[in-house]
Amino acid sequence: MIQVHNLHKHFKVTRHHQGRLAGVRNLLTREYRLVKAVDNVSFTIQTGELVGYLGPNGAGKSTTIKMLTGLLVPTGGDLVVNGRIPHQSRQQYVANIGVVFGQRTTLWWDLPVIESLELLQHVYRVPADRFRQNLSEFTDLLDLKPFLHTPVRSLSLGQRMRADLCAALLHDPALLFLDEPTIGLDVVAKERIRQFIQHVNRERGTTIILTTHDLQDVEKLCERVMIIDHGRLLFDGQLNDLRERFDGRRELLVDMAEAYEDVSVEGAQVVARDGWQVTYQFSRSSVTASELISRISQRYRIRDLAVREPDIEATIRRIYEERLLET
Ligand SMILES: Nc1ncnc2c1ncn2[C@@H]1O[C@H](COP(=O)(O)OP(=O)(O)O)[C@@H](O)[C@H]1O
Ligand SMILES: [Mg+2]
Repeated sequence: MIQVHNLHKHFKVTRHHQGRLAGVRNLLTREYRLVKAVDNVSFTIQTGELVGYLGPNGAGKSTTIKMLTGLLVPTGGDLVVNGRIPHQSRQQYVANIGVVFGQRTTLWWDLPVIESLELLQHVYRVPADRFRQNLSEFTDLLDLKPFLHTPVRSLSLGQRMRADLCAALLHDPALLFLDEPTIGLDVVAKERIRQFIQHVNRERGTTIILTTHDLQDVEKLCERVMIIDHGRLLFDGQLNDLRERFDGRRELLVDMAEAYEDVSVEGAQVVARDGWQVTYQFSRSSVTASELISRISQRYRIRDLAVREPDIEATIRRIYEERLLET
């Protein structure tokens, strides 16, 4: 459905002089700096997938989405979506996609939500019965009723996002782009949006690309994740593979039944001690949890224990910081 090959987007940004006479120098000489917002990115997405596009701020996520939706023209590379080149046949192209940008609404600021939706019905030429059906379904799923007659500018961020999601789907697009749909929302509002996204993907078969810098979005929704940083695609695969590859490190928390001077054990490292509680770290590939537990219990008297699975958030931070995936 989506084929992206060696995609680039470079921005020329004016470099500003600093210090004395900076104003004059800025006027006289124009110096540019090249920002490689998207740098040689390739991927393929099949119909029906729900893919997480993850990366820190400034990574290049929105720039990618803007090219995929035809809002920006690539500097280089190939991009085919639904057999079309997005920026070349925008009119026909947008009829079959839905887009939500978390940072700004596509609705009319001063109009009540319902009037915005009705306007969109005409823009997209949605047949009346189809419109009514969709509106009623989304009103239920997104609980829009309490604010259907409220102007968009008076909505809370969470309400606005729900209205925007409804607006993006009224014309039954086969493909939905969500750019940070949970940004700035509280936990409850995020959860509601996530459930809706999952519903749309499962029940309607809509292909969805979801950009986020919130790992929990991806963990709850996506099997496949692509990670971008500094414009480069660092990882494309199953979230589980990412876990296995980079996060073999699990933790075993043990409450000892008495005080021990030395609590060491083969195959694990002691990473913390708090009274009689000891935290061991061990790697999935070197020892199983049950093997480790049996080694410890042979040597020490144990009162209680718990295995803690690795924190994928920490893993991803490590991937960014230590550039683990760069070639
Ligand atoms: N119109 C633009 N002009 C200049 N630089 C831009 C423009 N849009 C984005 N950038 C730069 O491109 C990089 C990627 O931005 P963006 O795609 O918005 O990142 P993300 O959505 O992952 O936060 C950033 O360094 C950003 O400053
Ligand atoms: Mg962005």
